[in-house]
Amino acid sequence: ERHFAGDGPLTGKHILVTAGPTHEPIDPVRYIANRSSGKQGYAIAGALAELGARVTLVSGPVALATPPGVTRIDVETAREMADAVDRALPADAAVMVAAVADWYVEAAAQKLKKGEGAPPLALHTNPDILATLAKSPTRPRLLVGFAAETERVVEHATAKRVRKGADWIVANDVSGDVMGGDANTVHLVTADGVEDWEPLPKDAVARRLAERIAAALG
Ligand code: CTP
Ligand code: CA
Repeated sequence: ERHFAGDGPLTGKHILVTAGPTHEPIDPVRYIANRSSGKQGYAIAGALAELGARVTLVSGPVALATPPGVTRIDVETAREMADAVDRALPADAAVMVAAVADWYVEAAAQKLKKGEGAPPLALHTNPDILATLAKSPTRPRLLVGFAAETERVVEHATAKRVRKGADWIVANDVSGDVMGGDANTVHLVTADGVEDWEPLPKDAVARRLAERIAAALG
């Protein structure tokens, strides 16, 4: 393991990472969520810190330890994640790994009872944290998004890069057994084209991405 005591390639840089799912409460005991262990995002936060960056990790609910040297802010909902990201700015780079729930519902104050029938859940669209950051006056110099796709992985990710205003999209092929596992097949989509990375353990994806970020920030 490499440890930089204040003299790594990312020393002096502040990098924001989002990770994990968000939970959107339905009532005090139920929620809507995306499937995400948080492992890839936590590995990236740790790898960036190892290269000397000051890392702020805005995390949804996960069962993971905070990587050494990382400042962690816990949130539950997408709206809380958006606020925490806002408060953590400015940053030199942001890596949005979180699997943000696309919708929320107005949560009931009391537990819904099934005897009263299936509740009609009115879904509202959550803020798009990445797209908002891309348009913000405090946009980080390097903005990296993730895209978990089950089909036409690179095609969807390439469109997403442009639509959301990200510099890079790490396209993650989740058609296999990735969720919660330790390996990942990713493609790095940039303005220059697409790089196919061989299947790698999540911590190796993290280290390679951290090194690419260090090179890009100079
Ligand atoms: N993202 C975000 N805020 C949201 C939704 C997504 O910041 N409300 C970020 C994710 O962290 C990720 C990127 O946007 O870096 C892509 O997320 P994804 O869910 O793949 O994109 P969507 O635009 O939500 O498209 P889809 O319909 O495929 O879910
Ligand atoms: Ca989504």
